[in-house]
Amino acid sequence: MTSKYHDLLLSFSLSLLFSSCFSAGPIAHYCGKGLNDTNGNTTLSNDISYVLADLVARASAGGFAISSYGGVRSEKVYGLAQCRGDVDARDCSACLADAARRLPATCPGEGDARVWYDYCFARYEVGVDFAGAADFGLATILVNTQNATNPEAFDAAAGTVMGRAAARAGGAGAGFGTEEERFDAIDVTIYGLAQCTRDLQPLMCAQCLSSAVGMLREYCRFRQGCQVLYSSCIARYEIYPFYFPLDI
Ligand SMILES: *[C@@H]1O[C@H](CO)[C@@H](O)[C@H](O)[C@H]1NC(C)=O
Ligand SMILES: *[C@@H]1O[C@H](CO)[C@@H](O)[C@H](O)[C@H]1NC(C)=O
Ligand SMILES: *[C@@H]1O[C@H](CO)[C@@H](O)[C@H](O)[C@H]1NC(C)=O
Repeated sequence: MTSKYHDLLLSFSLSLLFSSCFSAGPIAHYCGKGLNDTNGNTTLSNDISYVLADLVARASAGGFAISSYGGVRSEKVYGLAQCRGDVDARDCSACLADAARRLPATCPGEGDARVWYDYCFARYEVGVDFAGAADFGLATILVNTQNATNPEAFDAAAGTVMGRAAARAGGAGAGFGTEEERFDAIDVTIYGLAQCTRDLQPLMCAQCLSSAVGMLREYCRFRQGCQVLYSSCIARYEIYPFYFPLDI
């Protein structure tokens, strides 16, 4: 699969990147100051390392973990790691290990660091206990540059698929949902995936995914594939199978 993507980072800044449709490496990252910079502070660097190691150890098997370490709240390091719900423990573990290795170097000296992969997501922040809060202020949108033929009808069909995937994730799927459906007009199957981080209550998960699916509608008009990456949830559709089991 060689379809081209470009990537929009929407928040305070806008950036344009390219990536292929599957990548073992990071597909997006965000660095921010957070409450405090960590610049040159070895205590904080050590606390970050501790939290990342703890996240890798505990999330590798179960697919999700939160962790914190350090002094008083304003100086404590808070972390979260999660794998995509369909990814097995081996791929999950490899992805998280890579994320933990890269994250401090990706955002040197910064108090807020987040990285997204196809298979996992990891973040830490100094002084902010973000777990449980729906965070959809920062969006990265990866857009397939190919448009669908019969685009209006395709968008409607993709919207239906994503609505169902989101409903499953926000309900019985406990934070994770996939959905696939034939779109006979152009002889393709549309595959959709929606996932929230597991610290979210169902209502917050539904709110996050509702926003993500809205972003897909707004920014991915006519596109054959697209994904919205928030810190608390992700939504993606493609016309090829991209989640396991791969029925190809
Ligand atoms: C972080 O910032 C707070 C408020 O500005 C300050 O009181 C605290 O000492 C800072 N901590 C570090 C580790 O710099
Ligand atoms: C470094 O961070 C630690 C723990 O967060 C804090 O207590 C200490 O004051 C910081 N040191 C400096 C020089 O900012
Ligand atoms: C695809 O559709 C978008 C949205 O209507 C349009 O801006 C873009 O130019 C189209 N791209 C191609 C390759 O046709």
